[in-house]
Amino acid sequence: MSTYRIAPSILSADFARLGEEVRNVVTAGADIIHFDVMDNHYVPNLTIGPLVCEAIRPHVQVPIDVHLMVKPVDRIIPDFAKAGANIISFHPEASEHIDRTLQLIRDQGCKAGLVFNPATPLDYLDHVMDKLDLILIMSVNPGFGGQSFIPQALKKIAAVRQMIDASGHEIMLEVDGGVKVDNIAEVAKAGADTFVAGSAIFGKPDYKAVIDAMRQQLASV
Ligand code: DX5
Ligand code: ZN
Repeated sequence: MSTYRIAPSILSADFARLGEEVRNVVTAGADIIHFDVMDNHYVPNLTIGPLVCEAIRPHVQVPIDVHLMVKPVDRIIPDFAKAGANIISFHPEASEHIDRTLQLIRDQGCKAGLVFNPATPLDYLDHVMDKLDLILIMSVNPGFGGQSFIPQALKKIAAVRQMIDASGHEIMLEVDGGVKVDNIAEVAKAGADTFVAGSAIFGKPDYKAVIDAMRQQLASV
């Protein structure tokens, strides 16, 4: 029986009331806070940095999962570790030295993750499985919340599940983009255990109702 984790993305939260928003979503049952960092360079949008991570850190006890959509990545990693991040993931295209960046994240005391865009091949995993704590499969192109789930991601999730199981390492398999109550079971069946959801949760008035409905779907898998 898998342990499923729900990771609301604060990208769709009300940034004017962020402390209250993260407290509310954790009270509603969130396991992880997903924190989307965009730089208007690697992706065509600009969001939040280490100062905001530091500001929300005292408001929640759950892990903060920093998804870096920035290029380059290495310089900013220690800043996020100091700001209280627990997991830091990055896109392989954004680092010149993937192995070194993964090591840097662990050296800073955080869990390390690699993120795959819809068209990014999984070959990047071949030589680093022992250095990973998380693999994040994008089911939309990164940059914006509220996009539709790209169904081809399901095959990729299944392929990564096989790779993780064959590796014998304990690696979380997270999916990000267009995850909703009505498709979360399908995503779990493909092999994911950690589900990012932004607009599906923060877009709704009752966070607990959505998270409960997601868990109900997951219980049927
Ligand atoms: C997209 C971000 C996602 C985004 C997901 O680049 O990485 O985390 O917030 O939003 P939804 O759940 O609305 O697709
Ligand atoms: Zn994300």
